[in-house]
Amino acid sequence: MGKDVIIACDFPGKAETLEFLDKFEGKKPFVKIGMELFYAEGPEIVREIKARGHKIFLDLKLHDIPNTVKSAMKVLSRLDVDMCNVHASGTANMMRAAIEGLTRKDGSRPLLIAVTQLTSTDQDTMKSDILIDKPIDEVVMSYALNAKNSGLDGVVCSPLEAEKVHKTCGSGFLTVTPGVRFADGEIGDQKRVMTPLEANRIGSDYIVVGRPITKAEDPVAAYERCIREFTQEAV
Ligand code: C5P
Repeated sequence: MGKDVIIACDFPGKAETLEFLDKFEGKKPFVKIGMELFYAEGPEIVREIKARGHKIFLDLKLHDIPNTVKSAMKVLSRLDVDMCNVHASGTANMMRAAIEGLTRKDGSRPLLIAVTQLTSTDQDTMKSDILIDKPIDEVVMSYALNAKNSGLDGVVCSPLEAEKVHKTCGSGFLTVTPGVRFADGEIGDQKRVMTPLEANRIGSDYIVVGRPITKAEDPVAAYERCIREFTQEAV
């Protein structure tokens, strides 16, 4: 899989999601299904969107004991998604168990990506709530390396961290980056943002874009603009 734009389909239900995807007519964007939509509609929504020909990132961020994660991943492997994820803080044992569960009998499996530190957690919260004193950047890189050494394919990270993740874990280790906004767009509740063009230049492999596309007056045009900026030859 190459560089691509993943649309975060953060909708409350099936009707809104399919109405949104219908706007794309012949196009089949890569879509992210998160907890809201999955918990509302269950696995059927994944099957339905897959049957329409979209690639799917199932963003459920698993984090539990290794055996439970392995069994859950075994179930998810049957859904034929293209990418799914776990929390790196679940430890290397949990990540290895996730890979085992996800790998089908024929050896194939969806890409598995780790969440390092959520971008909603900052240095102060890390210290006060989870008693981690180390610099956040060091924590993110250490979690990324742990994910790589456990056999995972990449991490979800801030676009500001993508370059360093590639330096630490190699250019083949995928960086999936949310927090993307157009230069002339609203930032909303995202704090540290980059444009698709900047994310392209710093070498993100996938950008995850929600509201700049889903809330746009013309979502298809906004998606095409993202693709254009993100995949054009970096200059
Ligand atoms: O609407 P917006 O472009 O901000 O959507 C970004 C998507 O990426 C949302 O689905 C959000 O949950 C997700 N995400 C994020 N920051 C992270 C991890 C995931 O914004 N650190």
